[in-house]
Amino acid sequence: MGLDLTDKVAIVTGAAQGIGEATARKLAERGARVIGVDIESDSLNTVMASIGGKAITHDVTDAEGDARLIADVHREFGRIDILVNVAGGVLDAERGIEAVTIAQWRRVVALNMEAPFYLCKAVAPIMKAQRSGRIVSVGSGAGRSYSRTKVVPYAASKAGLHGLMRQIAVELAPFGVNCNVVAPGFILSERGRDDWERRDPAQKEKEMATIASDRLGAPEEIANVIAFVVSDESSYVVGQTIMVAGGHWMFSRKTTASQRCGEGSREWRMKQR
Ligand SMILES: NC(=O)c1ccc[n+]([C@@H]2O[C@H](COP(=O)([O-])OP(=O)(O)OC[C@H]3O[C@@H](n4cnc5c(N)ncnc54)[C@H](O)[C@@H]3O)[C@@H](O)[C@H]2O)c1
Repeated sequence: MGLDLTDKVAIVTGAAQGIGEATARKLAERGARVIGVDIESDSLNTVMASIGGKAITHDVTDAEGDARLIADVHREFGRIDILVNVAGGVLDAERGIEAVTIAQWRRVVALNMEAPFYLCKAVAPIMKAQRSGRIVSVGSGAGRSYSRTKVVPYAASKAGLHGLMRQIAVELAPFGVNCNVVAPGFILSERGRDDWERRDPAQKEKEMATIASDRLGAPEEIANVIAFVVSDESSYVVGQTIMVAGGHWMFSRKTTASQRCGEGSREWRMKQR
């Protein structure tokens, strides 16, 4: 038992940057043999070379490719102890139900919900046969409540991902395979930093007012929690969505009705009186 991951075979998707990179680095630091997967080969190769891991350039939305990837890693390493689904995001989806296109909806759902499903489906029989394993998917506060930036397929697909992980947690826990979600708040990854910089000072202040810790998070703060959830010490943590968000979405601070419900909502109108 312990937090040590020596010789555990760990697949981390989205490992080229941000939360995935921080996770790959943390698991390697704890002793795991890390296989990093990402669609961006240059940055992935650089990250994996620096931690002595294996880089696999791959698009996780390719179902057959995912099955092949899991089979290849299993053949080469002899086992798979850990799968961390980090690759995800809003892509370039328009904001709001009316603006988002069907093509954008499909791409976002494919990345955030379908890809983790393909990988979980392929790894499940291997971990079951081993009678041990850890699967963590990176969800989102948007999947628990709603997308504050109004990206409809993102909120829907992350909620679906949370449901997928709860469902397979029940099926796989009797075999010693624990499945959970780690759901970040606002994190200063490459993507998070772009998102933050696009906001004007008033928008930044409003957002910050809803974060109890009064600051944005770092990718390493998500990686630290993932490293615990994939360790032997999390043996009785099953089917959970663990928010790592500095108290975001607790509405415990100066949240306004327009932030919670949108301008024009009933609650917002009542506040204007
Ligand atoms: N940053 C935040 O504030 C935040 C908040 C909540 C949830 N999340 C979630 O955390 C995860 C990581 O976010 P991040 O901020 O580090 O994002 P990021 O955009 O910085 O990194 C995502 C990585 O995934 C890779 N990727 C994208 N599509 C891929 C595909 N089809 N196949 C393989 N790899 C692909 C990208 O190349 C990139 O390296 C995502 O699932 C995101 O939804 C992030």
